[in-house]
Amino acid sequence: MGQVVVAGSINMDVVATADRHPAIGETVAGREVLYFPGGKGANQAVAAAKLGAATMLIGRTGADAFGRDTRAFLSMQGVDLAHVREIADAGTGTAVITVAQADNTIIVIPGANALVSATDVSASVIRQGDVAVSQFEIPLPAVTAFFARARAAGAITILNPAPAMPIDRELMALVDILIVNESELSLLAGLELHDTDPDARFVDAASTLQTDHRPNICVTLGRRGVIALVDGEVHLETARLVKAIDTTGAGDCFVGAIAARLADGHSLQSAIGYANVAASLCVQRMGAGPSMPTAQEVSDAIG
Ligand code: RIB
Ligand code: NA
Repeated sequence: MGQVVVAGSINMDVVATADRHPAIGETVAGREVLYFPGGKGANQAVAAAKLGAATMLIGRTGADAFGRDTRAFLSMQGVDLAHVREIADAGTGTAVITVAQADNTIIVIPGANALVSATDVSASVIRQGDVAVSQFEIPLPAVTAFFARARAAGAITILNPAPAMPIDRELMALVDILIVNESELSLLAGLELHDTDPDARFVDAASTLQTDHRPNICVTLGRRGVIALVDGEVHLETARLVKAIDTTGAGDCFVGAIAARLADGHSLQSAIGYANVAASLCVQRMGAGPSMPTAQEVSDAIG
């Protein structure tokens, strides 16, 4: 069984809940302020670890209370933090999130995440059979160096290009599996997509990302499910009908679950079905990091 190695962000999520989101310039009364460990990298690592994968996280926090709290949470979830450095010259990444009617808005202040370097990622050991996972909340040179190292070792690479940014050819050539949501796909394909569009339009948009290289692509579409291009074949996975209370981190849950299943030797196709169920459990709980399901919970849901 391979290891999941995630290079990515670690944030404290400061969450304000309300009955509805304020319009620009408007003030609304909220319900409560909650603090949840988050950050896309950390969330993906927690998901993989709780689903049973040996999981290592590469990243940075500040030497502050948010850094202490997030690291304590991550190690309790079983994530190996040997390559998470605490640094004095920046604060821990912080996300200011509003949640209303299960939808969220997020502003991320990168802090220490912006200082993750190519040197940080080269310290870790990656082997054949491992799964390397990254996103865009750490600097691009670190992501590229990480994937170059993973590719050279014979590991599988998964890129979740979030928040959305164009992917240069050098990096794209190092990606085995690309996992995007609707807005990331819109930006990367240069098309306006709507969740009412027919499946074929998402398939066409995803295919435009395969001109030079042919990474497998998963498009996560929330309550619509997942559309994937796996080895040139289209694969559709419908979402489970659940009552979502907070979708923050659901995409991260999907990514971490795919990584955990691949590290355990499953096919991408079957990993997608499994990750789809895991994400449906994640949206039924508040918060990002703490909402990741266990392997037992996923198998109970699968029945
Ligand atoms: O994907 C969800 C995450 O995005 C949150 O946990 C927040 O920290 C931001 O990074
Ligand atoms: Na959640």
